[in-house]
Amino acid sequence: MNARNIIDLDDVSQSDLSEIIRFAGVIKENPSHYVDYCHGKIMATLFYEPSTRTQMSFQTAMLRLGGKLIGFDNPGNSSVSKGESLKDTIRVISNYADIIVIRNSFEGAALAASMFSKSPVINAGDGGHLHPTQTLTDLVTLSYEKKRLDNLTVGICGDNKNGRTVHSLIKSLAQYKSNRFVLISPPELQIPQYVIECLKKNGCEYSFSTSLEESISDLDVLYMTRIQKERFPTEADYLAQKGVFVLDAKKMAAAKPDLRVLHPLPRVDEITLEVDDDPRAKYFEQTEYGMYARMALIIKVLESGRSVLPDKVQDTHQVKCSNLRCITQTETYLPKIFNESEGKLFCKYCDHSVEPSAIQ
Ligand code: NCD
Repeated sequence: MNARNIIDLDDVSQSDLSEIIRFAGVIKENPSHYVDYCHGKIMATLFYEPSTRTQMSFQTAMLRLGGKLIGFDNPGNSSVSKGESLKDTIRVISNYADIIVIRNSFEGAALAASMFSKSPVINAGDGGHLHPTQTLTDLVTLSYEKKRLDNLTVGICGDNKNGRTVHSLIKSLAQYKSNRFVLISPPELQIPQYVIECLKKNGCEYSFSTSLEESISDLDVLYMTRIQKERFPTEADYLAQKGVFVLDAKKMAAAKPDLRVLHPLPRVDEITLEVDDDPRAKYFEQTEYGMYARMALIIKVLESGRSVLPDKVQDTHQVKCSNLRCITQTETYLPKIFNESEGKLFCKYCDHSVEPSAIQ
């Protein structure tokens, strides 16, 4: 595999991605064969934000491969609480660990970390931006449960604005042939522009809906997400959206017999408990697929990972990103790097477009 860091799944070529998905299946069928694969290797899990599944499935994956773990899930117990920069933390930890898994509430934090790490860095969620290993989990789940990753009508329902799993999933599924997307959310919680641009670039069919009830019968896959409370500016803003979509047995009755319902979890109130007993609900199986997906990814990343400090990245533009959730707001030493597309500038850390007034 060519990718050193996994900041988003598009760091991985389509053929490498197919190989990881296939390999996850091989491990799932014969896990005992891999118990010593990471013997002598150490993974650091640096969780600056809460996590149950992602953190524990990475940890379980590494332990099942015979590797060892260091890290924190409460940055308050680390030197971060003394004001240590992300750069310094990563420089140090990459002297200890062979692979670093990081979750942070700022968008672009994993990309920033990768610039100062001798070891490969895997993004386990950067704010409301991206979550590539959840997408890998979702792809492995679909390849088992639907037997294909193309020609699917996929409903994405919930907080499409702030749900990082949704952004990575759409970006990835858009690259497979003939997938169609029904983006079900309140108008305030529609997917960000850079994800729409990705759908356009790949020539995907997509439509917007505000009614799960009306859209469900068209779907092969329904990807539910919770409203992301922690990303709302105020409690009142969250309460205005809370409970907006609820998948229940009545709605399931109108769905196709071979629909598959996925959810990255945690669930709050968007799927009623009765749906858990419907054989089309696959969100608990999904968590098991995720462990095998991460085992496959760890093996592939460690096989190709080199222990070297990357070259220093230079500023591309003298512009400051205006997104208050971008990692460049707090880690002000970071190089100012932007992509140019159709005359517009997009921050490389968080994908937000730069206001023309900010460009000198
Ligand atoms: C998701 C996340 O953290 O983005 N959970 C997960 O990783 N399985 C989804 C969520 O928190 O809603």
